[in-house]
Amino acid sequence: MEITKVGVVGFGLMGSGIAQVCAQAGFDTLVREVDQSFIDKGFARVDSSLARVVKAGRATEDQAKAARGRMRGTTSLADFNDRDLVIEAVIEVIGAKKQVFGELDAVCGPETIFCSNTSSLTIVEMAATTKRPDRFAGLHFFNPAPVMPLVEVVQAITTSDATVATLHAFVTKLGKTPAVCKDTPGFIVNRLLVPYLLGAIRALEQGVATVEDIDNAVKLGLRHPMGPFELIDYTGLDINLHVANILFEEFRDPSVAPPALLKRMVLAGRLGAKAGRGFYEYDEKGQKKPSTPTK
Ligand code: 3HC
Repeated sequence: MEITKVGVVGFGLMGSGIAQVCAQAGFDTLVREVDQSFIDKGFARVDSSLARVVKAGRATEDQAKAARGRMRGTTSLADFNDRDLVIEAVIEVIGAKKQVFGELDAVCGPETIFCSNTSSLTIVEMAATTKRPDRFAGLHFFNPAPVMPLVEVVQAITTSDATVATLHAFVTKLGKTPAVCKDTPGFIVNRLLVPYLLGAIRALEQGVATVEDIDNAVKLGLRHPMGPFELIDYTGLDINLHVANILFEEFRDPSVAPPALLKRMVLAGRLGAKAGRGFYEYDEKGQKKPSTPTK
């Protein structure tokens, strides 16, 4: 099956990045948010990201303009009736996702493939609520989506091999590298990443080293672009706690049990860069301040 028209539900941080990547690759891209103000916010994010792409010389101004021209916003899922592929990127709450897919199932043709960008929820739980469990998969992008080259293609027990093949080709057309994996908690990357990030928090709790020294050790000793605390602040402490809770519920493995400090920082509202404070402090532009205030 050939995909030409893509729909993205949710125009937040991940949804806007995914939609931008689709439009840059030449796909007609329709995005849906519940309110026009969220659509405007999403397009502001896309515009600033496209400006970075142009500044970095990875696209010309004309190419960026053409990509922007392939994107449209709507507040109505009924407008998704002509889409070949729909990617859902709404809040990580199973009820909200099921409601979106229920509405889409009634609106889209039987050939339309549905995907969720969930990082932690079970794909088959969403697939089973639709009339197309064979044309339902996970398509997991990484933050920042316009930059990160990997997309996990998640095959649930109901997903057909033909759907996986179509999505594999689609991801390749996006200029990204697909990694096919089973519908298991954390898929590939978060299954490996979460125990590592939680281990860093436990090392901090045990007084092994400071936030800065742990981050520097990983950046300089392993050549990671970010240390674990920078990455947790970047993706959000609340998101990391949520994913850890889901992995722990499934595996009951102490390596994915959320540390007390993570829970308490989330309760205190220290959610990372987006909140101005996580393991580091941030200015109003989201830039890290030089000092490490964490106690
Ligand atoms: N849009 C477009 N381009 C962007 C961008 C964006 N939002 N963010 C960064 N860039 C580009 C810059 O323009 C620059 O391009 P260039 O190298 O061609 O000039 C390049 O990316 C590097 O950016 P910067 O120079 O501003 O900053 P850094 O070198 O520090 O890189 C980073 C920023 C790409 C975020 C890098 O620090 C990094 O790769 N960090 C790790 C990110 C990561 O691990 N993400 C996965 C998180 S886990 C996840 O998403 C799973 C989920 O389920 C939680």
